Formats: sequence, C-alpha cells, structure tokens
Amino acid sequence: MTTPCIIRGLGHCVPETRLTNADLERMVDTNDEWITSRTGIKERRIAAKGETCVSLSHQAALKALENAGMRAEELTHILVATFSPDAVIPSAACMLADRLGITGRMAMDISAACSGFLFALETARAFVTLHPQAKILVTATDVVSSRVDYTDRSICVLFGDGAGAAIVTAADAAAPAGSGRVLDVLLATDGSMGELLTIKGGGSGTPYKLGEAVRSDFFVQMNGREVYKHAVRAMSGICKTVLEKNGFTKDQVDVFIPHQANLRIIDAVGARLEMPAEKVFTNVQKYGNTSAASVIIALSEARAEGFIKDGDLVLLGTFGGGFTWGSALVRF
Ligand code: UT7
Repeated sequence: MTTPCIIRGLGHCVPETRLTNADLERMVDTNDEWITSRTGIKERRIAAKGETCVSLSHQAALKALENAGMRAEELTHILVATFSPDAVIPSAACMLADRLGITGRMAMDISAACSGFLFALETARAFVTLHPQAKILVTATDVVSSRVDYTDRSICVLFGDGAGAAIVTAADAAAPAGSGRVLDVLLATDGSMGELLTIKGGGSGTPYKLGEAVRSDFFVQMNGREVYKHAVRAMSGICKTVLEKNGFTKDQVDVFIPHQANLRIIDAVGARLEMPAEKVFTNVQKYGNTSAASVIIALSEARAEGFIKDGDLVLLGTFGGGFTWGSALVRF
C-alpha cells in the first residue's frame, strides 16, 4: 500500500543567458521560420561558465524549500534526475547535499532522460512509503547544452538548460495550503528503441582514451522523426491509462502539462487526449526542451503564475530517451 504523498513546495531556475532563433541563424544553416513552424521554440536558456547541473539544482531547491516553508536541514533524502551531472563521481545528489550544507542523508542520481522528474517522483513515493517521516528533495535538472553539438542544426535548435525542484513528504495533517497531492504515477520503458536517441561517447561502451578528441557520439544523436512518432503515441497512451486507472475522465482534468519538447508533439498529444488547448500549459517557446527539468519547470511555473489553481486536477506526461515515458496525476 502506497503512503499518500504530497508535493509541498515547488521551485525552478533557468540560466540568464538566452539563445534566440536569430542567434542560431548566425551559427548554423537554419532560420526562425523553420524552427518556429517545426518546434514552436523561439529561444532557450543556456548555462554560462560556472553554471552547472548542481548550481542550477541548488537554486531550484532553495526556492522549493522556501515555498514549502522548510529548512534544508529537515531533508532526509536528496534525489537528482539528470543525464548531465557535473561529474560521473561524485553524483550530482551528493554535491547538491553538500551545497545545501547537509551530510549523512541518502542522496542519489536517477537517469531517465526527459522522463527523469516522474521517475524521481515515483522513487520519492516509494521512500515515503518505507519511511513515512521522510522529507525528500526531488530535483530534475539538465544542462543539455553540455552535450549538444552546436554545428548540428537538427539538434542544437531543440534544447535548453534548466532545473526544477519539488519537496515530497507524506500527506500529513500539517500539509500547507497549496500542496499538491500525488494521486498516481505510471512509468514505462522500452530499451529496444534506445538507439533512436543516444549519447554514447564517454560511456563504458564507448570509452575515450587520454588525449583523444571527442567524436559526434559525445553529443545528443537523435532520429527526430521516429522519436516524434513514438513520443506522441506513448505519452498519449500512458496519460489515458492513468486517467482510466484512477476513474477520471479527460473532462475532469483542469491542467495538462506534457513534456515540453516540441509544440507539434504537445498539440498532437493534446488532440489524442481531446484536451482543449486552454487547459494545456506550454513554455517550450521560451525554454526549448530542458530534458528531465521540462515538466517540473512547467509545473512550478504554472503554479506560480496561477495557471494551476487550488483544487485543480493536473495531468503530467513525459517521454524521453531510453525510451522512457510516464504520467502522473496531482490534485492541488
Ligand atoms: O524529449 C524527447 C526527445 N526529442 C523530441 O521529442 C524531438 C522529436 N522530434 C521532433 O521534434 C522533430 O522530428 C524535429 C523538430 C526534430 C524535426 O522535425 P521534422 O518535421 O521531423 O523534420 P525532419 O527531421 O524530417 O527534417 C526535415 C528537413 C530535412 O531536410 P530534407 O532532408 O527534407 O531536405 C532536414 O535536413 O529539415 C531539415 N532540417 C532543418 N532545416 C532548417 C533539420 N533541422 C533543421 C534546422 N533548420 N534546424
């Protein structure tokens, strides 16, 4: 039996530096019309020197703690969903705990590409079920720009950097007003599709030797058209399943937050779910695809802007490399 969980605080952080479509026009053979019509993206935020997975996670975590009315010392577990940690060792979670000034806690990274936030949220729910007093920091952060080849026009227009954070605890009586009750999370993977979206270079399957220059496999490689088809099918399917499983109809959903990869994917998933456009939150236009951070930044921003109101039923959907995909229902 799962212990009921709440998200009692949210926060997000994006780098200051903007990379606009006009900037990209000067870097590769592309244009604003192509990028806008194919993706909906107008600009993305790119980490400056010194801005990293851990520094962005730290900023988002401080905001989430403040939003929850909690101090870092109260945290019992730290989870960081990312494919772009500052280092392979130590983990981003250990570095984040250190930056928050806390030691002795369980801290670990979770790798599920663009679905990272929901994989980490479900892990947090499992920890809360094991340890009902747990107060868990979940951050989902990617500095995708560290693994983008800015000479590859098919990739560099799509991605941006950012971080989101949520504080997850059991749904106790002291839950502050404005908390979101996590009703369910569904997750899925299909490794047979893994080759369609990869970063292999530097892994133990594709190691580099000392002094060797990085190859294109060090950067995101994607068969965009194939990923697109699977993303639409998988995300709409798992969102329908989570609604049916929990006895909700699409009409009962107040806000839909899909993975922010591409406005056309968002529109196609929205159409399959028969979700009116005014219920669908998007920020892909200004941030691009921030991978694991995408839906948690959107959730945090939608809540802060009042797009999500008290009492609203929020449906989240994700899809990413692996393949990984997921959905969740949160009642605010
Ligand atoms: O988070 C999950 C991971 N990622 C995604 O969800 C992304 C999924 N895929 C997509 O969003 C889309 O497939 C893309 C936006 C990546 C591409 O859109 P598309 O409509 O599938 O275009 P395409 O890949 O079929 O390319 C069409 C043309 C090609 O030219 P030719 O071969 O038809 O002459 C490309 O070379 O567009 C060309 N192209 C570009 N042209 C201008 C590719 N990138 C660019 C570019 N600017 N940046």
